[in-house]
Amino acid sequence: MAAANSTVKYGIIGVGMMGREHLINLHHLRSEGVTVVAIADPHVPSQELALELAHSFDWQLKVFSGHQELLDSGLCDVVVVSSPNMTHYEILMDIIKHPKPHQVLVEKPLCTTVAHCKEVVNAARKRQDMLVQVGLEYRYMPPVAKLIEIVKGGTLGHVKMVAIREHRFPFLVKVNNWNRFNANTGGTLVEKCCHFFDLMRLFAGANPVRVMASGAMDVNHKDETYDGKVPDIIDNAYVIVEFDNGSRGMLDLCMFAEGSKNEQEISVVGDIGKGEAFVPESIARFGTRVAGRDGVQTLKAEDSRIKYDGLHHGSSYLEHLNFLHAIRAKGKQALSVDLQDGLISVAIGVAAQLSIEKGRFFTIEEVMDEHLSNATA
Ligand SMILES: NC(=O)c1ccc[n+]([C@@H]2O[C@H](COP(=O)([O-])OP(=O)(O)OC[C@H]3O[C@@H](n4cnc5c(N)ncnc54)[C@H](O)[C@@H]3O)[C@@H](O)[C@H]2O)c1
Repeated sequence: MAAANSTVKYGIIGVGMMGREHLINLHHLRSEGVTVVAIADPHVPSQELALELAHSFDWQLKVFSGHQELLDSGLCDVVVVSSPNMTHYEILMDIIKHPKPHQVLVEKPLCTTVAHCKEVVNAARKRQDMLVQVGLEYRYMPPVAKLIEIVKGGTLGHVKMVAIREHRFPFLVKVNNWNRFNANTGGTLVEKCCHFFDLMRLFAGANPVRVMASGAMDVNHKDETYDGKVPDIIDNAYVIVEFDNGSRGMLDLCMFAEGSKNEQEISVVGDIGKGEAFVPESIARFGTRVAGRDGVQTLKAEDSRIKYDGLHHGSSYLEHLNFLHAIRAKGKQALSVDLQDGLISVAIGVAAQLSIEKGRFFTIEEVMDEHLSNATA
């Protein structure tokens, strides 16, 4: 592990849209003693775009076509895994098995299946010399972070209901169109909605028990074909999640809703009050039952630490800042998003995908226990 205040050397595995976003964020953290020294990506155009960026930052990068060569180079203290979802499992297992300890920030979802997530969690447990943080970065978006602060401060009382609406544009085009098929992504409710299930769990302060969902691919991607196959990813859904403390969550996802002021609207209601967060308006609101509508307060959510807003309203910057502090604390500071958070957010997504497929509630116990889910799915 890098000594405090020495330069921390990063490698990025997968330098597509998100990998390059990490590169830019790390450049904005250079005054914190951060440098990117290597990338690994089999796709030459992605390598070239990353190199172009690195040159503009005056950073010399070693370029590898695969993650194993990057690990074997011994150049990196930290690796960021930002390759497609279906590659996370193999790459993470190779990082964890590697003799040199690497600190790891892996993009969400941790893996595309619960079984693979569990294998990674179990393998990582044996490496006390490594930290693995999962990229569930919505927690850091300033209005969301403000709402988390309000909820955890007790202003709303005991949380009973968490409703998250994501209304946005369709999935973007990715390298080799990997995101068009459930087999590669884990399904829309794993791929992108793991962010929201993570938030629900955080707001509820509880673990999920069972999940019911309804959804379909109704509008997007229907006229696309790849090697003769039409995409199978849903573009809208309602998902209900019940938690073990009696609170419940609801996700309202629509990916053909460009005509929407906010991309995410979150409402958390407790037995004392109600809080809300709006992204990208960057507003948080809260009020109490006693003070009523006239007592509702509106806060502009900002975080002066953010030096680069990027694609996710500064959350990637804060994610890196947090992870860097955890690395420098050498295990004395808990990770803000750990492997268990990554696993459970995937498990809720898997349960929701299965619920749509089978038309019934799925319990988290079923999806966490491969034998049970194989018997019932
Ligand atoms: N945090 C967020 O909100 C957020 C947003 C977008 C994407 N993501 C995640 O980031 C990851 C990458 O998504 P993206 O949008 O950058 O996709 P992308 O298609 O733009 O880029 C993926 C890159 O990985 C490369 N790649 C493929 N297989 C590889 C391998 N085995 N080793 C190394 N590189 C490999 C591809 O060639 C490509 O350059 C995904 O896991 C995605 O879910 C997270």
